[in-house]
Amino acid sequence: MEAQTKYQKKNSGTLNNRKKILVFETNSAKETEKLGFKIAHMIKKYGIRCAIFTGPFGSGKTTIIRGIIKKLTGKNHVTSPSFTLVCEYTEGEFPVFHCDFYRIKSPVELESFGFKEYEKGLLLIEWPESAYEKIPENSLKVMMSFVSLTRRKITIIFP
Ligand SMILES: Nc1ncnc2c1ncn2[C@@H]1O[C@H](COP(=O)(O)OP(=O)(O)OP(=O)(O)O)[C@@H](O)[C@H]1O
Ligand SMILES: [Mg+2]
Repeated sequence: MEAQTKYQKKNSGTLNNRKKILVFETNSAKETEKLGFKIAHMIKKYGIRCAIFTGPFGSGKTTIIRGIIKKLTGKNHVTSPSFTLVCEYTEGEFPVFHCDFYRIKSPVELESFGFKEYEKGLLLIEWPESAYEKIPENSLKVMMSFVSLTRRKITIIFP
């Protein structure tokens, strides 16, 4: 079933409304950031409130999020919020919250994390594994993987 709905286009991709999964490959951090612009467009178009980003260290989660935030808020400098858990960007039409749960080892640690508060804006989550219980079903999923040192495969799954 999944294979039938899969849409593949290398180097660049176009949004096809009838497909549930988009697969892209990028050749540089810059290209990945630009793909973030495209995802920002999808987020607005489909009214997405939460997106999760999975993939190994250095696969480009922060890079693609940097593109999304740049497009949505005009802010250029996005660093990973590893130590603060969440960074807030309020310069756009709606607030954007960038989370990194890498340091969270158990869902219990997130009990006091105010997911409800972030519903007023867009939540972008790196390393979401500890938070799966709390992540809305209708979240956008972005899966990053290495093809080579500079090439990344990015799979986007629509809710
Ligand atoms: N095609 C590419 N797309 C994204 N990043 C790339 C690409 N090619 C090389 N890079 C480099 O890979 C690194 C990606 O780092 P980034 O912080 O975005 O990864 P991450 O998935 O957020 O890692 P972490 O799990 O540590 O948070 C950057 O140094 C970037 O310059
Ligand atoms: Mg990161």
